[in-house]
Formats: sequence, structure tokens, C-alpha cells
Amino acid sequence: MAGNRTFTMIKPDAVAANNIGAITKMIEEAGFRIVAMKMTKLSSERAGQFYAVHKERPFYNDLCNYMSSGHIVAMILEKDNAIADFRKLIGATNPADAEEGTIRKLYAKSIEANAVHGSDSDENAQIEGSFFFADIEKF
Ligand code: PPS
Repeated sequence: MAGNRTFTMIKPDAVAANNIGAITKMIEEAGFRIVAMKMTKLSSERAGQFYAVHKERPFYNDLCNYMSSGHIVAMILEKDNAIADFRKLIGATNPADAEEGTIRKLYAKSIEANAVHGSDSDENAQIEGSFFFADIEKF
């Protein structure tokens, strides 16, 4: 994925609120190309694996329960400067701190139910993309 790819999930709150289309439209209009996409549901065990890096944080169990509470949409996205540009597009983790016009400002409900995930580094984008997609599913 080196440099120009990131990984995102549309989280259970946004899927349940019928915001898949609106969020995907924002992503495409911001210049990202969707190179892989699937709707799925995480078990709490698999959510725990995905978020293992946060294992010691106080919200870890809540986060895993929440992320396994409904369907998610996983995507690999491509664009120059993908990691930084996508994190700018989604806004701060807590929607109360997110800038106007960002996905989280528009669609997140709370710091937990915050509509979307975005990878924080090229290395994690690679790991997270491979968590959901086989090589033959990535163009
Ligand atoms: S980030 O984006 O990694 O810098 O954000 P961070 O604050 O480190 O949070 C990591 C993920 O944990 C989620 N989170 C929480 N979930 C439940 N309750 C609380 N209080 C909470 N605080 C943070 C946050 O949404 C991040 O999830 P992802 O999927 O990585 O966006």
C-alpha cells in the first residue's frame, strides 16, 4: 500500500443510521478511489484482535463490544497522501472536537460511536487492510 493507501471502516452507528451512501459519497468526492470494499460483522473476539494495540486503554472492552454490535463496511482507499488526507476528511476522534464539514462532525454520535475509522500510518493501513481483504481482493 506504500504511501498512497489507507484503510477505513464505516462503523455500526453510521451503518445503522443509513449513512453508508452519504459517507462513501464524501470519500469519493474528496478524491479517494475505493480499491476494495465489503460489508461484514465483527465478532467481539475479532474486534479485540483488530484493536489489540488499545488493549490497555480503559475503553478497550466498550470499543470491542461496540464494534461488534452491528455491521461495518470495510474499505481500502487510494489517493496521494492518503493517510493524512483521510484523517483530515474524517476529523477528530471526538465529534465534539471535529471541524465543520468533516465526516465525524456530520455523522458521528459520540467519541465511541464516531462513524468511521481511519488508519494512522502506512504500516497500520497495510496491516488493517490485510485483516479484512485477501490479496486477490485488493486491486
Ligand atoms: S486515534 O485515532 O487512534 O488517534 O484515536 P484514539 O483516541 O487513540 O482512539 C483509538 C480508538 O479508540 C476509540 N475510542 C474510544 N472508544 C470508546 N470509548 C472511548 N472513550 C474512546 N476513546 C477513543 C476511537 O474511536 C478510536 O477508534 P478508531 O476505530 O481507531 O477510530
